[in-house]
Amino acid sequence: MIGPEFWRRYLRVYDVLNSLPTYRQLLADVCEELGVRENELIMDAGSGTGNLALRIRGSGGKVVAIDYCREALESHRSKDIHCSPVLADLERGLPFKDNCFDKIASNNTLYAMSAMHQKSALKELRRVLKTGGKIVIANPRRRLNFLRVSMNVISDNIRAEGFGTTARKMVASMPVMIMMAYYNRKLRTDNQHCFYDYEEQRDLLEDMGFRQVSQTKLIYSGQAVLNSAIK
Ligand SMILES: C[S@@+](CC[C@H](N)C(=O)[O-])C[C@H]1O[C@@H](n2cnc3c(N)ncnc32)[C@H](O)[C@@H]1O
Repeated sequence: MIGPEFWRRYLRVYDVLNSLPTYRQLLADVCEELGVRENELIMDAGSGTGNLALRIRGSGGKVVAIDYCREALESHRSKDIHCSPVLADLERGLPFKDNCFDKIASNNTLYAMSAMHQKSALKELRRVLKTGGKIVIANPRRRLNFLRVSMNVISDNIRAEGFGTTARKMVASMPVMIMMAYYNRKLRTDNQHCFYDYEEQRDLLEDMGFRQVSQTKLIYSGQAVLNSAIK
């Protein structure tokens, strides 16, 4: 069963991703699509250890990070004493008024929910987004190939930091990468989880009443899909 306890364990190793250029580029792609403006109120839905929220804040946005895993919020707070993340479950309703956020971002979160819960989460996100506000979501693809991602990560890293640094980094992070592969496998097998096929995320946003849904962009070395839309 995928729930806060699963994420508590997974997030203990998750931040190894921050050392990888491929993941940092993924966060940059989400931020670019979001087009953050100074002082906009932006929700990071499923904020985890705060990696995306920190970037959005660095770009001038006021972030409200929400996650249902208490330890994730603690980890986020340990990185940013000024943040006040909110403990809330996207599948059960959010403690915010209608139409209160300028923008919403959600990275690597909806893919782990059942199709039914993805819909209830998006309905709730739409409710709290201002009319005319923008939502940006990114999630791994159904055919995500962990080996291929790893190979792409290694070659991106060699280009960015050279062979020696990459080799040292890979050896040091091997145990954590094995744990990540294990948790990704668990997501696929243990749950009615719902990774996305190429156009599925786009279709879902349209079905949930969002408009101007963007063409699907492939990010994360082609292993994740990114879409934006307007309420
Ligand atoms: C893979 S992590 C992604 C973290 C972050 N968005 C990032 O890009 O680094 C998925 C996060 O979604 C959170 N999450 C999953 N289902 C959720 C739900 N129903 N309500 C709130 N948070 C949820 C998990 O607790 C976890 O922190």
